[in-house]
Amino acid sequence: MDTKDLLDRYRSEALLGGGEKRLAEQHKKGKLTARERLALLLDEDSFEEFDMFVRHRSKDFGLEKNRPLGDGVVTGCGRIHGRFVYVFSQDFTVFGGSLSEAHAEKIVKVMEMAMNAGAPIVGLNDSGGARIQEGVVSLGGYADIFLLNTLASGVIPQISAVLGPCAGGAVYSPAITDFVFMAEGTSYMFVTGPNVTKTVTHEDVTSEELGGADTHASKSGVAHFAMPNELECIDGIRTLLSYLPQNNREKAPRQETGDDPARECSALASIIPDNPNKPYDMRSVILEIVDRDTFFEVHKAFATNIIVGFARLHGETIGLVANQPLSMAGVLDIDSSTKGARFVRFCDAFNIPLVVFEDVPGFLPGTDQEWRGIIRHGAKLLYAFAEATVPKVTVITRKAYGGAYDVMNSKHIRGDMNYAWPGAEIAVMGPKGAVEIIFKKEIEEARLGGGDSAAQAREEELTNEYRARFANPFIAAERGYIDDVIEPRETRIRLIRALKMLSTKQDANPWKKHGNIPL
Ligand code: HXC
Repeated sequence: MDTKDLLDRYRSEALLGGGEKRLAEQHKKGKLTARERLALLLDEDSFEEFDMFVRHRSKDFGLEKNRPLGDGVVTGCGRIHGRFVYVFSQDFTVFGGSLSEAHAEKIVKVMEMAMNAGAPIVGLNDSGGARIQEGVVSLGGYADIFLLNTLASGVIPQISAVLGPCAGGAVYSPAITDFVFMAEGTSYMFVTGPNVTKTVTHEDVTSEELGGADTHASKSGVAHFAMPNELECIDGIRTLLSYLPQNNREKAPRQETGDDPARECSALASIIPDNPNKPYDMRSVILEIVDRDTFFEVHKAFATNIIVGFARLHGETIGLVANQPLSMAGVLDIDSSTKGARFVRFCDAFNIPLVVFEDVPGFLPGTDQEWRGIIRHGAKLLYAFAEATVPKVTVITRKAYGGAYDVMNSKHIRGDMNYAWPGAEIAVMGPKGAVEIIFKKEIEEARLGGGDSAAQAREEELTNEYRARFANPFIAAERGYIDDVIEPRETRIRLIRALKMLSTKQDANPWKKHGNIPL
C-alpha cells in the first residue's frame, strides 16, 4: 500500500473512533460523539487536529492487540466567534474514553500549546477514568494534567464540560478549571460512586442524585451550569467565551449591542418597596441596567442569595456581583461568600471590571453557619474584593449593614466608585436591632410605666428617629465613603461613565509569591 493510501486508511480509521457499533451506542444513550461535539463547538471548518495517529504503548492484558488511532481523545485547535481556542474531546467509544499515558500526553500537549499561544482551553470530558489496564502510569497522566490546570489557572480561561461519567480523581481536572458545564441526565461527577457510597455510608443513592448536573449546580456548586442537553452546554460555552479575553494580558473584546449608553432606567424609580423588609428581585435591576439581552448568569441555581454573572455595559464586558433580596433577604452565608469570591477572583485575573449591586442585611447568624466556618468563608469574599485591582464600582440599592457593608466592595477595600441610591441604609445594623440594643433601658422604662403597648410605641418612635438619623446614605457620603448619591433611573448612565473613566486604571498589590486566601 502506498503512503497516500495508508494516510487515507489511517484517517478514516481514526475518524471512526471505537467503530460504528459503539458510535451508535453513544447516540442511543442520548450523547453526541467526541467529533460531533467539536463540530458544534467550533466555527465551521476551523478545526486543526493534532495527534490523530497517536496510539497507546501498553502491552498488558492483551492491549497490544488493540491500539486504536487517537487513543480515545481528539485534540486540536479551532476558532469560536473567530478567536482561537484549544480543545480536547474524550471519545467514550475507545476504551470508555479512559485515560492512558498516551491519552494524557495528548491533553498535556494541547494545554501547553494553549498556554504558549495565550488562548483558552476547552475540555469535553466523557471518560471512565484512569485506563485500568495501565495502572499507575495513567494516574501519573492525570497528575500531569492537574499540574497544567494549576499552572494555567489565571493565565488562560479554562472551561470544562462534563458530558458523561467523571469519577474518582478524574473530577479534579474540571474542578481546577474556571467553569464547569454539565448536561442533565448524562453527566456525572463523584469522587466515589453510588456502590462505594453504599458500602461505606450505607446510603442508597442514584448516580443522578449523588453527582448529576442538578445536584452539582444547586447543592455542591461544583458545576456552574446545568444545561438540559449537550447542545445547550456547547452553545453555553460559545456564549461564555464571547465575554472573555483570550488570556490574562488582554482585555475582553468590546461588542456593539445597540443599546443606548444614555438610556434612563425609569422602571427602577419604583422598584424598592416602601417596607424595607419586603423583597424585590435584584435580577430585574440588573436586566434593566445592563445592555439589553447581555446578562449571562453563572452559578444560577447555587447560593441564590447572591447573583454573579457577566454582562455588557456600552458593549464592554463586566462581572456582576449582586445580593438577591428575593432569596434569604440577600444575606451572606458560606455558599454565597465562596460563590462570590471565586467569581470576583476570576474577573480580577482576567481584567474584567466588577460592578456590585448591594442590598445586604449582614451575615447569616446561627450555629450551623458558625460551626461550619462562616468566619473563614466570609473572609474569602472580603479577601477577593480587597485584593482585586480591576475597576470596581458599587451601587448600594438599599441595605448595607455591618461587616457586609465592608465586604461588598466598599470604598475602604479599594472600591473605585461607590454610589448609593437615595433610600440606601448604611449602618452597623438595621434600625430595629440597633434600637433594641442602645435604647434597651428607655424601652424597659416605657414598659414599666405603661405596659407592653407603651414599650412598643416607644420602640417604634426610637426606631423612626434612628432611621431618620442614621439609616441613610448621607452620613457615609459626608465622609466620602460614598462618592455620590444617585437616582436609580440614572444608574446605567453613571455606571457607563464610571467604567469609561476607570478604563485606564492602574493598581497593583505588593510583591508576593502568592497571598494566603483563607481556604
Ligand atoms: C479501561 C474502561 C474503563 C477504564 C470503561 N472502560 N472504563 N476501560 N479503563 N477505566 C471500557 C469498558 O471495559 C468497555 O469496554 C467500554 O469502556 C464501555 O464501558 P461500559 O462499562 O460498557 O459502559 P457503561 O455501561 O456506559 O459504563 C460506563 C462506566 C463503567 C460507568 C464508566 O465503564 C465503569 O464503571 N468503568 C470503570 C470506572 C472506574 O472505576 N474507573 C477508574 C476510576 S479511578 P468494551 O470493550 O466492553 O466496550 C480513577 C482514578 C483517577 O479514575 C485518579 C486520578 C488522580
